[in-house]
Amino acid sequence: MKSYLLSGLAALLLSGLTGLSANAQDAAAPVAVAKAKLQTGNLAPTPPMGWNTWNTFQTRIDEPLLKGMVDAYVSSGMRDAGYKYFVLDDGWMTMERDASGNLVADPKKFPNGMKALADYVHSKGLKFGIYNCAGWKTCAGYPGSRGHEYQDALLYASWGVDFLKYDWCNTDSLNAREAYITMSAALKATGRPIVFSLCEWGNHKPWQWAGGVGELYRTTGDITANFDKDKHMGTWSALSVMHILDQQVNIRQFNGPNHWNDPDMLEVGNGMSYSEDKAHFSMWCMLSAPLAAGNDLRKMSDQTKSILTNKEVIAIDQDELGIAAYKKALPDSIEVWVKPLKNNDVAVCFLNRSAKSQKLDIKWADLNLEDKTTGLNISFNTRQYAARDLWTKTATGTTKGSFKQEIPMHDVVMLRLTAK
Ligand code: GLA
Repeated sequence: MKSYLLSGLAALLLSGLTGLSANAQDAAAPVAVAKAKLQTGNLAPTPPMGWNTWNTFQTRIDEPLLKGMVDAYVSSGMRDAGYKYFVLDDGWMTMERDASGNLVADPKKFPNGMKALADYVHSKGLKFGIYNCAGWKTCAGYPGSRGHEYQDALLYASWGVDFLKYDWCNTDSLNAREAYITMSAALKATGRPIVFSLCEWGNHKPWQWAGGVGELYRTTGDITANFDKDKHMGTWSALSVMHILDQQVNIRQFNGPNHWNDPDMLEVGNGMSYSEDKAHFSMWCMLSAPLAAGNDLRKMSDQTKSILTNKEVIAIDQDELGIAAYKKALPDSIEVWVKPLKNNDVAVCFLNRSAKSQKLDIKWADLNLEDKTTGLNISFNTRQYAARDLWTKTATGTTKGSFKQEIPMHDVVMLRLTAK
């Protein structure tokens, strides 16, 4: 840590002495500039919230579709609920760079260019995100950024990009940490604040090194819209919501402001049951995960909308402490997840993973909770809380005595406890 701070300071001094500009493309300098700036970056004090094209549209994207989606983002209430980023995933480019080596927005899909779309997104009070990959090609086979990191970063900045998702396909034997540091430095060298979203699928344990490199980092492979069954895709498997949840249990201590564990985008509204969607969304909020909706915003059912825009549940995700919940198992496939919040509040989520309805009947005093990571322990013997159910939006008594409730299959009861 000490040497890190010192090298940051040295870099700062060096940049001052040499009059290095924020746009410097000198190959050696930007890494040092980036390290110096990493000390102060505060682009994602709470988990980023947004919408991404991939889960519903894959590469079938174009300007009319996306402008309609931006309009729906606003009219559906998503923006007002706190979602901010509008992110284009893979499939926005032509298959080749131009003669100068620049990426080109596919003119058939985006006849007015990418800046026009970015301007439209900004005109609605949203922020604009884009996608590329650390390898030679993106996962869908479009040109990757390998060898063009600084050039691509400058292009994104000139378009007004605010967020970059950076994937890990076709990277051969690249060193993941180095590759992501290079792109991070390239983004910082543009002088434009750009949230950097690492998408390396957790292969090289980014939770151990990505803090300071980017603001969020994928911890798993791709999600699929299934509660507890993976989907086999030939050479790989897309992961169910419960499979991904299980992969977060032992990395919760790495989560926090400006360095978020990212268990992948949301599948709410993409085919699971109402209960399953509710459980999925609740658990992502309990984890303080980034919330990237991935459904067609133009065709949201009222139920989907009521999940994605539940402000009290979102407030759990966005709690400024940024502490990911920990798990305590109860009998009968019910898990209780607990998340310490600011002002000594606590979020508690009972998750019924089984395929049948379960009757919950617990004594609060049997549920005293010990958070070894934060030291924020909860004793129901010494302190009483008022409980509020965040889905039914009703008060459900206090933590004196017992808590009884039926939980349908694949569903949750999510409470906010407020110290009395
Ligand atoms: C990878 C990523 C996905 C998506 C696709 C695009 O699979 O993990 O989230 O970006 O690539 O090709």
